[in-house]
Amino acid sequence: MSAIVLGAVASIVPVAAGVTALLDPLRKKETASAQVFVTRLSAVPEDGSPKKFTVEMDRVDAWATYSNTPVGAVYLRRTESGDVAALNVVCPHAGCFVGLAEDKARFGCPCHNSSFDLDGVVNDPSSPSPRDMDSLAVDVRNGDEIWVAFRNFLPGRHDKTPV
Ligand code: FES
Repeated sequence: MSAIVLGAVASIVPVAAGVTALLDPLRKKETASAQVFVTRLSAVPEDGSPKKFTVEMDRVDAWATYSNTPVGAVYLRRTESGDVAALNVVCPHAGCFVGLAEDKARFGCPCHNSSFDLDGVVNDPSSPSPRDMDSLAVDVRNGDEIWVAFRNFLPGRHDKTPV
């Protein structure tokens, strides 16, 4: 009888190890906020006007890796203090892409007319957006590489809740 139990245990262990290895990719989660190279400083207008850039990352699903996949976009702008500011283009109201006005003096959302100043602050009390545009941390490396801590946040909330 004990030989049967030992035999059963001996056969279950390798099967369990195989199943664990097979399902391992499903248990891995993407990093919450990845620093992503977006562009070079020379590509950001020197006059302080914002410019939109696509954000590309390597994406990993359960078993495959996809290189340089577009995952979103940011507005980059040189500030008066000489830093670079980044705003996620996704509107905090319901997730549409915010556009830049023709005069490049404000942002506007085409879906329900939320309006933001160039710092991403809601500048019209009738705007339905519950919060300002989502700012993202910027790191300038090697003098001209702009890296952004890119992530998305839940729309429709007053607080910035990461997706
Ligand atoms: S999604 Fe932008 S105002 Fe509604």
